[in-house]
Amino acid sequence: MLELLPPPPADPLWELTSEYGTDPRPERLDLVLGVYRDHTGGTPVMAAVREAEIRLAERSESKEYRGLSGNTAFNTALLELVLGADGPTGRAAAVQTVAGTGALRLLADLVCRTRPGATVWISDPAYVNHRPILEAAGLKVRTYGLPGAEGGSDTAGMLRDLRGAGREDVVLLQGCCHNPTGVDPSREEWEELAGLAARNGWVPFVDLAYHGLGDGLEADLWATRMLADRLPEVLVAVSCSKNFGLYSDRTGCAIVLGASPQAVRHAETALQNAARTLYSMPPEHGAAVVTTILRDPGLRLAWRAELDAMRGRIEANRADLTAQLGALGREAEARALARQKGMFSMLPLTADQMLRLRKEFAIYGTTAGRINIAGIPAHRIPCLAKGVAAVLAR
Ligand SMILES: Cc1ncc(COP(=O)(O)O)c(C=O)c1O
Repeated sequence: MLELLPPPPADPLWELTSEYGTDPRPERLDLVLGVYRDHTGGTPVMAAVREAEIRLAERSESKEYRGLSGNTAFNTALLELVLGADGPTGRAAAVQTVAGTGALRLLADLVCRTRPGATVWISDPAYVNHRPILEAAGLKVRTYGLPGAEGGSDTAGMLRDLRGAGREDVVLLQGCCHNPTGVDPSREEWEELAGLAARNGWVPFVDLAYHGLGDGLEADLWATRMLADRLPEVLVAVSCSKNFGLYSDRTGCAIVLGASPQAVRHAETALQNAARTLYSMPPEHGAAVVTTILRDPGLRLAWRAELDAMRGRIEANRADLTAQLGALGREAEARALARQKGMFSMLPLTADQMLRLRKEFAIYGTTAGRINIAGIPAHRIPCLAKGVAAVLAR
């Protein structure tokens, strides 16, 4: 049977990562994968997570099956975290998922069960896995231009494209720190989007993967909360991979907001049914860690302080790279970088220039120009700026 399988396409990001792994140059710099790295280049377990794990190891008594919604205390804690303690949690339900990816897939399944073959709009460029996840669930995909993908501030394209989205459609929006561009709509633009959704009847599907790493936790959740407050139906895929550093523990949740309690109940059951045929129930560990942190005021404060420190390091890296590029005569590119937020930056380089950065300077970003700004040790920023200026000059 397996001989019949044609050679499947390799995942481009993981292929780059393995190429990096075999690069013998000691100065090589991996800016491909989206993980936070501290000044030593490591991705340590957050102290609040470590403390929660110690408490759990001492206290947990059983590893009995959970229900199909996973850890319900986690779901309640995440609903409050995302929508706010005074938010519309009463017309929302949350189901624990296998990280943000699992939430995207379960919500895509929910859309497909409700409207088979519906169209979901995604940004161009988009997170590499958005289209594959949606298409695997049986949905059609269309794209809208992203404001400022080139570093400018023109938002007309995004809003113009989305005027084509109607009542049958769903629009996938990244709640903050857009991957790969680092460019988010302004608050006024978010409000315009909410108005457009209300007028034309499309449902926003928010992907939240980097909250806390852009302008701070509350500011990064502002757009999601505003949409949830103003619109009858909103879908939210939440990842705890980056802001709790729980990458390999696969922790996240799918949130649905509906117009009536019955619609929300039905949506919750549909999400549970989708999970049942994929993996039954999600892994407990990460959810227990997050719940322990969010429920304990001291631990929650400690986590917030660590998250703020991570964000500070990312901001300092971006400011330093911007300054160094400016000093090398690349003011326009520096200005574009300065507008970006969160873990990623889009370098204004072509695929060919990115390849030269890899070949000549051992600096690995994606072919599209995305680099993980959190992945640069501070002392390597001059080298990155020099490499970027050099490939731009030729
Ligand atoms: C925009 C976006 N959404 C979702 C995810 C999925 O994250 P997770 O590791 O939690 O599945 C990522 C991961 O990089 C992402 O960048």
